[in-house]
Amino acid sequence: MNATVSFTLNGKPVTVASPRDRMLVWVLRDELGLTGTKVGCEAGLCGACTVLVDFEAVLSCSTPLGDVAGKSVLTIEGLALDGKLNAVQEAFQEHHAFQCGYCTSGMIMAAWAFLKKKPKATRSEIVEAMEGNLCRCGAHVRILDAVESAGKAMGGAR
Ligand code: FES
Ligand code: FES
Repeated sequence: MNATVSFTLNGKPVTVASPRDRMLVWVLRDELGLTGTKVGCEAGLCGACTVLVDFEAVLSCSTPLGDVAGKSVLTIEGLALDGKLNAVQEAFQEHHAFQCGYCTSGMIMAAWAFLKKKPKATRSEIVEAMEGNLCRCGAHVRILDAVESAGKAMGGAR
């Protein structure tokens, strides 16, 4: 049964009519047209579907729509400001931290959420924080380089 659920999406209010138990990733992709958030395992294991809810990284394949009512959702489409990529996006570009790109938006969202809290994170803290995001292409080293470099750009230079 459809419910009317309102929340803030990338800074703008949205209201959708959809079952409250429909997973957020499908609402974003199919109903709101935001296909930057990817679906990998659909089982909470790969991190491809990571978005931020109230500034915390969550797996949108495992987050029912009803859980975000009244909250703020940020997807990869909302990360750049006035057409300018944010520090993590820029670092991924500089370090070529992708191959097929399927994991990239989830990686960037997870890294952004983490670095906002801990820009001075060490390499090993970054490795630990990014453990839930998998890359099947083998770009992990470049991804870690990019996250480390973004942390420095965000004021975490050591
Ligand atoms: S698609 Fe959500 S964790 Fe894999
Ligand atoms: S770049 Fe292909 S899965 Fe990571």
